[in-house]
Amino acid sequence: MKFLKRSNGKHPEDAAAIPPVIDIREITKTYQMGAEELRVLKGISLRIERGEFVSIMGPSGSGKSTLMNILGALDQPTSGQYFLDGEDISRLSQTALARIRNHKIGFVFQNFNLLKRTSAQRQVELPLIYAGASNRSGRAKAALESVGLGDRLKHLPSELSGGQQQRVAIARALVTEPSIILADEPTGNLDSRSGAEVMQIFQRLNREQQITTVFVTHDPWIARHTNRVIMIRDGMIVADQQVAKPLVAGVDERPSEAEELAGIFQAAYYGEHSAESAGANGSHAHDDSTGGGSGIPEQIAEGSAAS
Ligand SMILES: Nc1ncnc2c1ncn2[C@@H]1O[C@H](COP(=O)(O)OP(=O)(O)O)[C@@H](O)[C@H]1O
Ligand SMILES: [Mg+2]
Repeated sequence: MKFLKRSNGKHPEDAAAIPPVIDIREITKTYQMGAEELRVLKGISLRIERGEFVSIMGPSGSGKSTLMNILGALDQPTSGQYFLDGEDISRLSQTALARIRNHKIGFVFQNFNLLKRTSAQRQVELPLIYAGASNRSGRAKAALESVGLGDRLKHLPSELSGGQQQRVAIARALVTEPSIILADEPTGNLDSRSGAEVMQIFQRLNREQQITTVFVTHDPWIARHTNRVIMIRDGMIVADQQVAKPLVAGVDERPSEAEELAGIFQAAYYGEHSAESAGANGSHAHDDSTGGGSGIPEQIAEGSAAS
């Protein structure tokens, strides 16, 4: 496949010296279902450079979560290579992969995956405990402050809104200073205002701290807030495009329902062709099949870090 040139202002020699954060080559994933083979990923090659902000789109069942689980070292490809920060991790043991997850990857899930009886601050300290890091409470507080939750440290998930819970999950993903943040439909369970808040945080983290971020979304409007959109269909990349003018979360308003409705009525009057463009944002279809991606990594499972 072809890679677009990105004008990130890097000197070409610097670019050569710093490996991409993610460099996967001809990744395939095949599940054995009884006698049948289910080929879910059919040869995916992709490079993501440091500081990129990328969204992955595609129909339900196209392999997005499978790909994210491989990128997140939660699962291994059937064939192909995966270089993370220049290191080939395609054939590592489970223990080595768990270490990579803990040090290099921050996950954000559609359903937040927070522990029910654990305060926000404690949730964010957990990955630091597993990493054996020092100054855990200071770092957890700083991470929560960076997502606007400095005044919610002692709150339990049930005492927070959906958007706030997702921000706790983002702080938990950030706190280990990973090479990359991966998020599988992070706004999928949020109303549009909370979704915009979450997008605002991802945009700010990317802009101010150059945090490399890749997320899956079903929502074209959300995808337009990122700098690059990759489309997957049937286990293959079918498009890979820079976003010319990314939307700014919290500033660019989503078209109102009235405008969407007007678009739909217009389609009814003027025919199918305009129906397609008007309907693109009007669909409320959601992808609930998060595959294996919704499971909390076992290293942050409830109880196993009781003090
Ligand atoms: N552990 C698994 N075993 C067998 N089939 C799976 C497994 N995980 C996912 N699949 C199948 O792989 C395909 C892609 O799934 P997934 O990656 O979750 O798609 P998406 O996230 O794009 O909706 C689906 O047909 C799904 O049923
Ligand atoms: Mg999915």
